[in-house]
Amino acid sequence: MREVMTKSMARNIFYGGSLFFIIIFLGLSAQSHLYIRNVSTNEATLTDSVKKGKRIWEEKACINCHTLMGEGAYFAPELVNVMTRWGIDPEDHTGAMESLKAWMDAMPTGIEGRRQMPQFNLSDEEYQNLADFLLWADTIDAQDWPPNDAG
Ligand code: HEC
Repeated sequence: MREVMTKSMARNIFYGGSLFFIIIFLGLSAQSHLYIRNVSTNEATLTDSVKKGKRIWEEKACINCHTLMGEGAYFAPELVNVMTRWGIDPEDHTGAMESLKAWMDAMPTGIEGRRQMPQFNLSDEEYQNLADFLLWADTIDAQDWPPNDAG
């Protein structure tokens, strides 16, 4: 006897297969979501200062020149790992602020032939917020992305 697939068998394969892949899709989505919230960005470390710093980062459009994890413009250095490159201890919020302030207060350098960063005239509190944001960004586990060691 010849094996024939009945209509209902075909329908069951279609629905069963669809359901199977929908479940895999939902499972992977949930896994990514939990991973981002709890492992890679560590939501618990998002302080008010970090949030304010992110707002300043957006308002001043730092991304128009810089990248953060490879996203942004390629005019100026990648900043997600700037605190590591500067050798700042992740717990040293004051040191991070002082280094960032010293750097940003000295801008623009006016050195001919060198790309210039504008002067933003920020307050000490804004420097602290930005420094905390950059320190926090530095803790994101981006699985070593971007591959960047520029100093
Ligand atoms: C108009 C372009 C521009 C904008 C906007 C800009 N920067 Fe920069 N930034 C630069 C350039 C160019 C350099 C490198 C200057 C140099 O090395 O002399 C730089 C360097 C830096 C550095 C040092 C990087 C390192 O690797 O040592 C930090 C930190 C920094 N910028 C932070 C910021 C922050 C925070 C903002 C937003 C408030 C910002 N920048 C906005 C152009 C810009």
